[in-house]
Amino acid sequence: MKQRIITLQAEEMPKLWYNILADIKMNPPLGPDSNPIESDMLAPVFPMNLIEQEVSPERWIEIPVEVLEVLSGWRSTPLIRAFSLEKALGTPARIYLKNESVSPPGSHKPNTAVAQAYYNKVFGIKKLVTETGAGQWGSALAFACSQFGLDCEVYMVRVSFDQKPYRKTMMQAWGGVCYASPSERTNAGRAVLENYPDTPGSLGIAISEAIEVAVSDSSGKTRYSLGSVLNHVMLHQTIIGLEAKKQLEKVGDYPDIIIGCAGGGSNFAGLSYPFVYDKINGREIEVYPVEPTACPTMTKAPFVYDHGDEAGYTPLLAMHSLGHAFIPPPIHAGGLRYHGMAPTVSQLVNDNLITPKAVTQIDAFKAGVLVARTEGIIPAPETNHALACVVEEANKAKEEGKEKVILANFSGHGLMDLGSYVMYFNNELTNFALSEEEILRSEMIFADFPKPEMIKSVDPGTI
Ligand SMILES: Cc1ncc(COP(=O)(O)O)c(C=O)c1O
Repeated sequence: MKQRIITLQAEEMPKLWYNILADIKMNPPLGPDSNPIESDMLAPVFPMNLIEQEVSPERWIEIPVEVLEVLSGWRSTPLIRAFSLEKALGTPARIYLKNESVSPPGSHKPNTAVAQAYYNKVFGIKKLVTETGAGQWGSALAFACSQFGLDCEVYMVRVSFDQKPYRKTMMQAWGGVCYASPSERTNAGRAVLENYPDTPGSLGIAISEAIEVAVSDSSGKTRYSLGSVLNHVMLHQTIIGLEAKKQLEKVGDYPDIIIGCAGGGSNFAGLSYPFVYDKINGREIEVYPVEPTACPTMTKAPFVYDHGDEAGYTPLLAMHSLGHAFIPPPIHAGGLRYHGMAPTVSQLVNDNLITPKAVTQIDAFKAGVLVARTEGIIPAPETNHALACVVEEANKAKEEGKEKVILANFSGHGLMDLGSYVMYFNNELTNFALSEEEILRSEMIFADFPKPEMIKSVDPGTI
């Protein structure tokens, strides 16, 4: 019988995270005075132990045993050799899917939620506040808080709150509370509602609300937690790629192509960074982050300094951004509706170490349904974007008659997103693409901001 899934024993699990900051150069985050921020300026928002990780230059960082113990409830995640998908496509490519959907909330998100809850607990924090797009992150943080005895409050983007009501129930099951964003509970939310009462909301607005709630708690025991974008989130997610590398070694394979969908960039970074490290050291691989055409940050938006949130509470980050006030069309991949992109992912795009792609919502669902009918797992709408790229690359390998090895992140399941599948089967889904004019209009917002340097941070093979 063919071996369809590859797993690791407890003793084979990675014990260290990989920190890409050791290997690339970055523009620093800037404060309101346009100077690089000091770490302690972030202290009201994050605990100091996570701030230290955010700026750490160490290449390898130890994973605390307490974090590994919680993660061991479902890790290592299976690496699936997608034989049925390969057969359906008639491709000579060998396709591997890293199945992050097996975690309790159903995605890669708890890899960092558990770490963040742990570090906050150790720092003496009692409550975490966050935003969520599709609800995967909010439910992951609620789960992680339940493991470490912390309270959890989540601001969920309105359109997803309405599309995926059971995500709120999942958060409640783990002891969290969840509000639709924009809400009347914060200045940031009220300001948006005054001008746009029917807004679908955005991750940028929900982040503003969560930060505002966290920093206004006078007890000093509440902090904010972010599910993507920041360096420490990318770091925690590298357990995905580190496991995948060992799993591939077990079957004597190594990827030619690595693919992940990218909203803020964390599941893509988690799978790909340990391999990008090899690429920096001279290995030849293609690495593709995949975004929706409706929210094309890497493929269309400029590299600028911008806020991570709508109200401008966060420092200015050097990233590809459509503008912090940009409200993406209401596509069903709520987790990909973010105006910016992780600074490290943005820098790797500038370095030509990774090559961004964009796919439409309908192509994404078409690929997702094919994977459901072959491999059996119903993917999250976000994951479908990566799968559309997998199908394209597998077809290309067929045309060229090449035995490519394709490794992709199966970032989450879609069992809480079935409403979007209903619309797909009823032919009610639409594609959205931004016009050049809309992109230029959203760029007006950067006019007064400092400009980041176009740093060429690394040449492959130079480390
Ligand atoms: C299943 C799934 N995949 C991907 C994403 C995109 O986020 P990121 O780019 O940080 O991995 C999300 C975000 O909510 C998600 O829920």
